[in-house]
Amino acid sequence: MFDKIWQLFAHDVGIDLGTVNTLVLVKGKGILIREPTVVALHKKTRQILAIGSEAKRMVGRTPAAIEAVRPLRDGVISDFDTCEAMLRYFIHKVHQTPSKGSFSMPKIPKPRVVVGIPSGVTEVERRAVQDACLSAGAREAFLIEEPMAAAIGSKLPIENPEGVMIVDIGGGTTEIAVISLGGMVISKSLRIAGDELDEDIISYMRTRYGLLIGEKTAEDVKIEIGSAFPITDKEEIFSVIRGRDLATGLPKSIKVGAAEIREALSPTITQIIQAIQEVLEETPPELLTDIVERGIYLAGGGALLGGLDKRIAEETKIPVYVSDDPLTTVVRGCGEVLNNLDLLAKVRVTGGLR
Ligand SMILES: Nc1ncnc2c1ncn2[C@@H]1O[C@H](COP(=O)(O)OP(=O)(O)OP(=O)(O)O)[C@@H](O)[C@H]1O
Ligand SMILES: [Mg+2]
Repeated sequence: MFDKIWQLFAHDVGIDLGTVNTLVLVKGKGILIREPTVVALHKKTRQILAIGSEAKRMVGRTPAAIEAVRPLRDGVISDFDTCEAMLRYFIHKVHQTPSKGSFSMPKIPKPRVVVGIPSGVTEVERRAVQDACLSAGAREAFLIEEPMAAAIGSKLPIENPEGVMIVDIGGGTTEIAVISLGGMVISKSLRIAGDELDEDIISYMRTRYGLLIGEKTAEDVKIEIGSAFPITDKEEIFSVIRGRDLATGLPKSIKVGAAEIREALSPTITQIIQAIQEVLEETPPELLTDIVERGIYLAGGGALLGGLDKRIAEETKIPVYVSDDPLTTVVRGCGEVLNNLDLLAKVRVTGGLR
């Protein structure tokens, strides 16, 4: 009885703990948090100074005493303490308990948490995510694989015997999966995604123009003019990129065209498409027929890269669709699972009471 009443007050939450963005959805309330996965810390004391967009604004421009940390790299936790503090802050925030400036644990009831994790993570890495949630104030922490969450968030009929294919291109990982009867038949996780594309632009500008640019500038260029397929056969679009001239050390601006940026991104895009083709080659013939009929679904921020759907469709000869609002697909999938405990029992990888 008490347990039931207690659960009524608990705001169960779904979390997409992404390399680039962290989203938190509260059951019955929707997505309440959508922040960059960045934490600003005092270098010596490790005291947290800012979390999310406020911390992201500090990346590349922090004074010596402050460090802007991205606690996840390549889809996995690389800085556990910082990640835990960030999760604690977010879980606390959606519980709306006054924090009095500290990251103290919320009062009862504690939430049940469903988190999307990359399918390729090791047991140790899974444990790290689960422990971070539990010590951040969760009552129970269930992990579900990101491609499964993305497929559910895309409203694909995952429990049917027909095969569906989902490709989630995030910041740190690209997840490719074929799902049927509520399980992943084949999956592949590449530690190559949006961050890699930013790196491609950084190294292109360095080698081609001797221009040093930061991660944020590279990402802005990618979002502004990046593409995987010629978007228009008319006039090419350009962007003015500001950085530091490697030879003189002085500021310099370079005008770059979309075609050049497309060329810089091409090797990474090719690797992603090769991985999709490998998964298709391993897919049993019946499921492959279903996928050819239904198409491939794209989710994650990388799905927004101009012409990526067209390029994948051209190379695989299969229709490609971008999920609605691809940046929120995984967290919406986690939310869906919170509403359907039978589905949670089926798709969870691990989880439960400590
Ligand atoms: N319009 C756009 N064009 C191209 N890339 C974009 C666009 N919008 C966002 N991105 C990229 O999408 C990535 C972030 O996507 P997302 O939030 O799905 O990743 P994540 O879930 O944090 O990462 P992961 O799932 O790998 O842990 C970033 O690399 C970002 O630059
Ligand atoms: Mg993601």
